[in-house]
Amino acid sequence: MSSGSTPKQKTETQIRWLIRRDMPEVLQIEQESFQSPWTDEDFLCCLRQRNCIGMVAEQDQRIVGFMIYELHKTRLHILNFAVAKDLRRSGVGGQMVLRLIDKLSQQRRNEILLEVRERNLDAQLFFREQNFRAISVLRCHYDDTDEDAYILRFRLDATHDATSPYSPRNRISEYDAA
Ligand SMILES: CC(C)(COP(=O)(O)OP(=O)(O)OC[C@H]1O[C@@H](n2cnc3c(N)ncnc32)[C@H](O)[C@@H]1OP(=O)(O)O)[C@@H](O)C(=O)NCCC(=O)NCCS
Repeated sequence: MSSGSTPKQKTETQIRWLIRRDMPEVLQIEQESFQSPWTDEDFLCCLRQRNCIGMVAEQDQRIVGFMIYELHKTRLHILNFAVAKDLRRSGVGGQMVLRLIDKLSQQRRNEILLEVRERNLDAQLFFREQNFRAISVLRCHYDDTDEDAYILRFRLDATHDATSPYSPRNRISEYDAA
């Protein structure tokens, strides 16, 4: 006998290359996510570089997240990464990180780096959950505030460390002078 309730459909997220016509939605997410958002020109300037890649997360033809990163010889470097405000905590950011991790290999690029503002606790907790660890601090890194930046790193062989507990008393609890 049927219970009468229909099972909840999980919205599928597709992760694909960013194209020019995605930009209005990407800029909207950028503006709701950062106090000093990139402009259209900032994105274009960055994406014109040969080693710079833009990707978007899409659900039902709506752009719900994006990431911009650089390819270096031995690593990926995330330059910009955000999810639409109303869809946060639904796994989109995690899926984008997984896509990046998929691109790593022991032989070639085996780590991902990014800088996070010291007051951006949401991002720190998110990347912590994705097994990124703080490895260094850049003092007064930004033009628009006196904030420091934490350099976070994911290493391919660090996944075995996934169960180590996070101490909220020390946001860079796993400082390891690289
Ligand atoms: C950081 C950000 C990208 C996370 O994206 P998201 O899609 O919300 O992340 P997910 O839903 O995949 O989160 C996965 C897990 O990370 C952790 N997490 C994510 N956001 C968190 C938060 N605000 N506080 C605590 N933990 C958080 C949780 O463990 C979460 O799992 P749960 O929801 O089952 O508890 C998003 O908050 C964002 O766009 N922020 C503004 C832009 C930004 O700061 N970008 C990073 C620049 S360095």
